[in-house]
Amino acid sequence: MRQFNMITADDFGNSGAAFLIDSIKNSGKDIPSVALPTGKTPQPIYKALRETGMPAFHFINLDQYWGISHDDPRSYIREIAENLLDPLNIPDELRLTFNAMAEDSDAECKRMDYAIQNLADSRIDIAVLGIGPNGHIGFNEPGTGFESRTHLVSLAEKTHAANASYCDPYGGVPEQAITLGLQTIFEARQVILLARMGKEDILDQALNGPVTENVPASLLQKHDNLHVLVDPHVANYFGLS
Ligand code: PGA
Repeated sequence: MRQFNMITADDFGNSGAAFLIDSIKNSGKDIPSVALPTGKTPQPIYKALRETGMPAFHFINLDQYWGISHDDPRSYIREIAENLLDPLNIPDELRLTFNAMAEDSDAECKRMDYAIQNLADSRIDIAVLGIGPNGHIGFNEPGTGFESRTHLVSLAEKTHAANASYCDPYGGVPEQAITLGLQTIFEARQVILLARMGKEDILDQALNGPVTENVPASLLQKHDNLHVLVDPHVANYFGLS
């Protein structure tokens, strides 16, 4: 049985921004922790948030290509800093980011897990996610264990293909990435899954198919506070508009 609310919006950016602002205000925390995605899907929401502003929050980096610096053109940390964190003047102490150039990847994964354990409740308050063409969330590719914590991944072929046009001018898609694990994402008090045109079929599999490690986002069916925000194209696919 479905456990989620699906919210459709003609104006995905403004509605998504309003939804996130309400979630932060209703979190019960002065400064809730919020994991935020990069990629195309959230951009209209970030644009709206740059205009409206946003209540204080502690940014948690969801994922990052491994082996590149913060300011590499392919860096998700650079992308979200430029699109959201810098324009909103989020201070450095409220930005928990990966060091994707750390010498010891195991130590870097442990550092992130430890930092999350030290958040109030040892849980992220709000995890906002996109969905990959193969059902990945963060960079948790198909086959990732549901009990996973922060880990290094080798990117799946579909992910590589989806990200090639952007990364190719800057040295190609890195082979590996570091990502929060599925268990950490699942433990978030609230999950907001975003989907844009082109993600209809995989979203359907994730929400209505079997819960399986082959479709990492399917784990979210079991979450008791999941909200799915979709644009009008996706809404239409689900017969919601
Ligand atoms: P997109 O990426 O928002 O650019 O579609 C989502 C993802 O692959 O996780």
